[in-house]
Amino acid sequence: MTCDLFLPQLTADNSYTFYCEEFGETFHSQQGAKTEAEHKFAAPTKLNIKAHQPVIRLLDICYGLGYNTAAALAQIWATNPHCFVEIVALESNLDVPKQAITDDLIACWQPQIQQILTPLANNFQVETGRCQASLIIGDARETIKLIPSNFTADAIFLDPFSPPKCPQLWTVEFIQLVASCLHAQGILATYSAAAAVRTALIAAGLHIGAITSMGRRSPSTIAARYELPPLSVIAQEHLLTRAAIPYRDPTLQDLSAVILLRRQQEQQISLLEPTARWHRRTSRKFKKNP
Ligand SMILES: C[S@@+](CC[C@H](N)C(=O)[O-])C[C@H]1O[C@@H](n2cnc3c(N)ncnc32)[C@H](O)[C@@H]1O
Repeated sequence: MTCDLFLPQLTADNSYTFYCEEFGETFHSQQGAKTEAEHKFAAPTKLNIKAHQPVIRLLDICYGLGYNTAAALAQIWATNPHCFVEIVALESNLDVPKQAITDDLIACWQPQIQQILTPLANNFQVETGRCQASLIIGDARETIKLIPSNFTADAIFLDPFSPPKCPQLWTVEFIQLVASCLHAQGILATYSAAAAVRTALIAAGLHIGAITSMGRRSPSTIAARYELPPLSVIAQEHLLTRAAIPYRDPTLQDLSAVILLRRQQEQQISLLEPTARWHRRTSRKFKKNP
């Protein structure tokens, strides 16, 4: 699926995002597009610590306007201006990064970062003394297979539209491919706290943790190959309800409607607790013992 029309929208931190009519969603939180990239993607992947390495590898899935890559570069070079950053960015629609440049929506980032994002959108490749980046256009389910097997990412940003709108990038099968690109000490960050997403990350062999962040009622999620501090008891219980049944796409080719229907059918016959009942139970418990 691709967006045909992008309407720039000002967000609360004065940075811009796009609204996509086809998906019926904005690309970022209304609380602040730039702030979201910094707080939900760059900071949770601990790039300020990793920046002491000579080289950092980033995999930016759903590159969009390029804000997650921009926030990562800003954080890395603020710590170590000599760190060499290798970036692979996946995006289905080249019009998105291109329009972000022509509408000057990247003006909120430092000039040195704009000098990476602009040629990346125009030429798909950038090579400077401290950055090598490629933008691969196409369905990420296919393009992820083009990433060389020796590229293991220190940070992965997983930033598709929401699971009900773009289930194909939240399936167990796709997330398994994503997990295979993660370095042993790397961290994947996503804004989603959906139980189905967390289950898919676990099914892909990753440990998960929560990040308290701006703009959303529930915390966002990080994942890694190593153990992370446990989720809250409530979040763990959520993973035992029907909401945690993950999206599946066995051939990595199904339409979103097929993926949604497959999960709905699995939920209907599931013996797991219905999520609405769990919500009522936990809110009663919470009222008694706040
Ligand atoms: C929520 S936005 C990402 C925002 C982006 N990370 C940023 O900082 O601007 C989702 C992006 O996913 C892209 N997308 C949608 N379906 C895709 C697919 N199957 N493969 C790759 N990208 C896809 C959309 O074009 C859109 O740019």
